[in-house]
Amino acid sequence: MDKFVIEGGHRLRGTVAVAGSKNAVLALIPATLLAPGIHRIRHTPNLRDVWTMSRLMATLGAHVELDSSGELFVDTRAIEHFEAPYEHVKRMRASIYVLGPLLARFGRARVSLPGGCAFGPRPVDLHLKGMEKLGAHITIEHGYIDARTDRLRGAPIHLDVPSVGATVNILYAAALADGETVITNAAMEPEVTALARVLVAMGARIDGIGTSTLRIEGVRELQPLPWVENIPDRIEAATFLIAAAMTRGSIRLTCVNPYHLGTVLDKLEEIGCILDIDGSTVELRCNGELRPSNVTTAPYPGFPTDVQAQWAALMLTAGGSSRVTDTIYPTRFGYVPELRRLGADIEVIENTAIINGQARLEGATVMSSDLRASASLVLAGLVADGRTDVLRIYHLDRGYERLEERLRRLGAAIERVPTDEF
Ligand code: UD1
Repeated sequence: MDKFVIEGGHRLRGTVAVAGSKNAVLALIPATLLAPGIHRIRHTPNLRDVWTMSRLMATLGAHVELDSSGELFVDTRAIEHFEAPYEHVKRMRASIYVLGPLLARFGRARVSLPGGCAFGPRPVDLHLKGMEKLGAHITIEHGYIDARTDRLRGAPIHLDVPSVGATVNILYAAALADGETVITNAAMEPEVTALARVLVAMGARIDGIGTSTLRIEGVRELQPLPWVENIPDRIEAATFLIAAAMTRGSIRLTCVNPYHLGTVLDKLEEIGCILDIDGSTVELRCNGELRPSNVTTAPYPGFPTDVQAQWAALMLTAGGSSRVTDTIYPTRFGYVPELRRLGADIEVIENTAIINGQARLEGATVMSSDLRASASLVLAGLVADGRTDVLRIYHLDRGYERLEERLRRLGAAIERVPTDEF
């Protein structure tokens, strides 16, 4: 078990390249199940969640290797098992992404039912309803989803909420179903769009990519691709920008897609950061006082729920009272009591964190409860007086590649230290 030890008070300065998107690659890897053959995915981040997905693919019979350049090699010629065991699903909910491809290609899938998670209930009913609409017979037994079909058939599917995961699973399944599927109220997140584009390159017929209505005309088979390029991680990019703003530093992000960061960049400008955007580079400077602000999370292109915890940390350094409301995961505030241990003036009322900025933060030992919560604690540690120890950083390692090394190169004083503390 590792922890981070942070000595606060250093401004971040310099250039950092944004890694490939975790959430996009987690959707791209199971897509390889749809076409037997050899696939290569470039710009794959070296993260715990990617290892978990790779192990799950290996249990199905795939051969998976990640090389040091970030190219993921996946050979899906010998898939012979159709089960995602609890052991993988409990580590990572995105394991449910094998459901759609296995059903579409083999007519059967058994996937452990994901439980709750650190930030509240996260149902999978829309995934299951989607598969049923396409003709799958689904039973739940002994904590497992058992799905079977002779042949999937296209259908109209309206999502009650624009779920990223349900859209992804339905896209996979509809790509190989007979006839047309129309998904309305589909998620429009860049990770969904990236998957849809890759499916099209593999031979799928999908219209409306990037919109909330996706029309998929099923095809008999898909082809593996010699290689596909993953998109940049917009959540990691936002985290680095927020870190620079909090320390009143200046940072240059490369390998970023600024279009994917629209609302976050707008908010950063609104509070007083200076941004310079040029192609795939974003520069941020911040030296004066920051204005408080209110954000409310919403499906893309709204403010991402995956950035709300980091934004709340940033607002601790702004002059005045700010609010962060999460409409997607209303209880995703596990980081708040930990920030309070650092001296933060922050409270939660229903699904809103109310933050009074500029209280002096003092280093302390804090504990991560989930991936983005841990990011917000690290950010707070960067500006707290003295030493902050952040425990349970295995959460953080799920989604940030060597974060401490990259922050150190920007001037932060942060070390990874093995520990028995839990
Ligand atoms: C994905 C992201 C996660 C992000 C989330 C919201 C991945 C691997 N994870 O998660 O980082 O925080 O999108 O942007 O890409 N819902 C239902 N029934 C369902 C599915 C979802 O009610 O069957 C609800 C959820 O409880 C939530 C909302 O829909 O309130 C959005 O969830 P969803 O978009 O599905 O999130 P994930 O795909 O799990």
